[in-house]
Amino acid sequence: MIEIQTEGIKKDYNGEPCLKGISLSIEKGSFVTLMGASGSGKTTLLEILAGIRRPDEGSVVVRSKNLFGMTEKEKALFRRTEMGVVYQNFSLISTLTALDNITLPLILNKNSEHAREKAYDIAERLNLPFTAMKKFPEELSGGQQQRVAIARALVYNPPVLFLDEPTSSLDTLNTYNVLCLLKEINKEYGTTILHITHSVKLAEAVSEKDNIIKISDGVLQI
Ligand SMILES: Nc1ncnc2c1ncn2[C@@H]1O[C@H](COP(=O)(O)OP(=O)(O)O)[C@@H](O)[C@H]1O
Ligand SMILES: [Mg+2]
Repeated sequence: MIEIQTEGIKKDYNGEPCLKGISLSIEKGSFVTLMGASGSGKTTLLEILAGIRRPDEGSVVVRSKNLFGMTEKEKALFRRTEMGVVYQNFSLISTLTALDNITLPLILNKNSEHAREKAYDIAERLNLPFTAMKKFPEELSGGQQQRVAIARALVYNPPVLFLDEPTSSLDTLNTYNVLCLLKEINKEYGTTILHITHSVKLAEAVSEKDNIIKISDGVLQI
């Protein structure tokens, strides 16, 4: 079953082409890795698939829904129930503690029962110290912020996950821990995962050969 499908996605920035016609199908339950040089269009593609950025041309279908055919309200609801996103710059809310950042999606989804327990549980699995949970993002290290961002994406167990270089600020042990957790979630719940990494070693550790996609200068490489 196809979970994510794009047809001819094009995106320019100020007249400069960034994505030059991306067509892609991702099977439900697959763990896909997107690789490519800096500036090749990885973040732009991920943000379009996640409905955050609108393409100039082309369509995106996620879980049988045409993302850019929805109203903004429908899309916002779809995004916060059907997909979890880890942004390259984390995008944590600076006025909320780590704990409140992590429980926010549960509260927005009116699923706040046991929200604190769920947040502490996922934080523990990500090896985030309890003392970090009461702190604000600017009081946390880059690696801690990144794990808060991952926790926020995982806490409501969405069927689709998009992660933009989710281990870029982590040490080897935490990188391994995060990837093991993602692999477990992928196996246990059949969660469809698309993540971006620069590391061939990490890509090969989590994705089958056919699920490693390369992008160069806004074009997918076969
Ligand atoms: N908001 C933006 N405004 C203008 N140019 C952008 C913007 N975002 C990305 N770009 C440009 O698009 C290209 C691809 O960027 P990006 O998608 O971030 O690539 P990657 O994640 O592979 O490094 C780069 O040349 C970048 O400068
Ligand atoms: Mg990027």
